[in-house]
Amino acid sequence: MSPTLLLGAPVADALLRSLKPDIEELNPKLVVVQVGEDPASTSYIQQKLKSCDRVGLRHEHRHLDEKTPLPELMQKIEELNHDRDVTGFIVQLPLPKHLQLYVPDIIKAIDPMKDIDGFGAYNLGKMFLSSEFEHLPPATPAGVIELLKSYKIEIEGKHVVVVGRSNIVGKPLAIMLVNRGATVTICHSRTKHLAELTRQADILVAAVGSPKMITKDMVKKGAVVIDIGVSRVNGKLCGDVDFEAVAEIVSAITPVPGGVGPMTVASLIRNCVVAKRRQAVR
Ligand code: GUN
Repeated sequence: MSPTLLLGAPVADALLRSLKPDIEELNPKLVVVQVGEDPASTSYIQQKLKSCDRVGLRHEHRHLDEKTPLPELMQKIEELNHDRDVTGFIVQLPLPKHLQLYVPDIIKAIDPMKDIDGFGAYNLGKMFLSSEFEHLPPATPAGVIELLKSYKIEIEGKHVVVVGRSNIVGKPLAIMLVNRGATVTICHSRTKHLAELTRQADILVAAVGSPKMITKDMVKKGAVVIDIGVSRVNGKLCGDVDFEAVAEIVSAITPVPGGVGPMTVASLIRNCVVAKRRQAVR
């Protein structure tokens, strides 16, 4: 039997529609800071701003020169922190080489109340407490949770194997899954006997960025597979999962593109609305 395709667009559309009245009432504003010309970043930013337009969310794209020195970027962040008209902002990653070493300092400089990426220690730390404190969760993990919920895929009691331990996807997603009663195994580049572990997954999440690394023999029959990896191979977008082969044996799977991607954008916009509400009661 063919698997359920976990399509992000209809779920993201419904989430965006549900945010519209709040956006009309609160009139928040989202700012994206881009440094340099990374083509993938430019494409992601365009998607984010297009979705803002669709829901009438005010936005601004601050595009800085590739060679912007750290003090100048820090000054821009300080300006955004203090600009009362700006609800939330993100610094699009990856940054140019000369700034990469400073990413933790750059994220730390963002006011936690405006950190709509949820990348800072304050927002990540709160997630450790329980799902009730996930006020500004990172957008991709939040999007995955929303996608599972929408397709009525139970998390509680499931063994979820997350392949990938990034600070923006793998680690926070693992915490959000634990908060919802899953048993979570995190695997990464140093994991021994990876396939033995992935084959135990009721829900397998791939968030590595290595095209087609999850092959059919690594997946349990009937599992749910969430593919977060996005790579470009011969000009085409490709996930971490060998989709054609894996789809033959699983019960549900996200396509790439069209799976988690739209959910990330919608979750970022939701964070901007949540940030505005929380700022109003401060
Ligand atoms: N680069 C890839 N994904 C993201 C994201 O969610 N936020 C930011 N700031 N940069 C990214």
